[in-house]
Amino acid sequence: MARIAYVNGMYVPRMLAAVHIEDRGYNFADGIYEVVCIRNGKLVDEERHALRLERSLRELRIAPPMGRKALSLVMRELMRRNRVANGILYLQISRGVARREHAFPNPAVPSSLVMTISPMKLPTPESLRTGVSVITIPDIRWKRRDIKSVSLLPNILGKQQAKEAGAYEAWMVDEEGMVTEGTSSNAWIVTKAGALVTRKADEMILNGITRLAVLDAVAEGTLTFEERAFTVAEAREAREAFLTSTTSFVKPIVTLDGKPVGEGTVGPVVESLVRSYFRHIANQP
Ligand code: PDD
Repeated sequence: MARIAYVNGMYVPRMLAAVHIEDRGYNFADGIYEVVCIRNGKLVDEERHALRLERSLRELRIAPPMGRKALSLVMRELMRRNRVANGILYLQISRGVARREHAFPNPAVPSSLVMTISPMKLPTPESLRTGVSVITIPDIRWKRRDIKSVSLLPNILGKQQAKEAGAYEAWMVDEEGMVTEGTSSNAWIVTKAGALVTRKADEMILNGITRLAVLDAVAEGTLTFEERAFTVAEAREAREAFLTSTTSFVKPIVTLDGKPVGEGTVGPVVESLVRSYFRHIANQP
């Protein structure tokens, strides 16, 4: 039973958890977030999430509400109070509560910190033997997608479009016809020539924590790997395709824009990366 949320220093019943109407996260989406997987009572890749969180805060000049160690203690305390062994931890930090003016509050106000835990049925090696469908849509986002900002309108509209098309995810495509990433996941293909390809993590995509774990596995293996952007046409001709995220893990894609990817079945490269990812998450401190 997930019943307790953390809001600005207090553990409160989730039903009553609320932020002020002048919170800048609410008024301006002036905030950042992280989603961390909880598996068998452990946080998956906590340190990498903490590093990305700190980076997002730095880039937006939002003061950390507390140090890394204190934040980790709050996360653990919230897990203990909610007794959730498998699910997700959601954490959001905004620039705080102030009269609605676009520029930063001056003097600065304390950042707001909200955390919730939700039980979730996590993917299993069996569930990842089934592939999903993806559509492609234009990427209409701002140009700092490396920051995990709560400003997610284009992602939301894209995901809804995917849903209405009967697809699991939408891959967003930049003005040059290159795939950037999914609305809530990173995008990967295995080319006709057999190379594993994913886009370089610059300001145009979010550097996924799952992406990094897969890159570690790739570095240890013998796969040919290319970190570069790929076109929609290349993706349509790919042998295999998949997506990665905290909640989807390593998910095979079997159709793209309604056409089969490769044989339209789950391929050997993604199968082996699914296995590596399960080894990785089973090995958390
Ligand atoms: N989304 N790209 C985007 C735009 C994302 O929103 C996410 C994650 C990813 C994958 O990152 P990671 O492997 O760290 O989860 C890539 C989270 C899960 C969400 O918004 O719910």
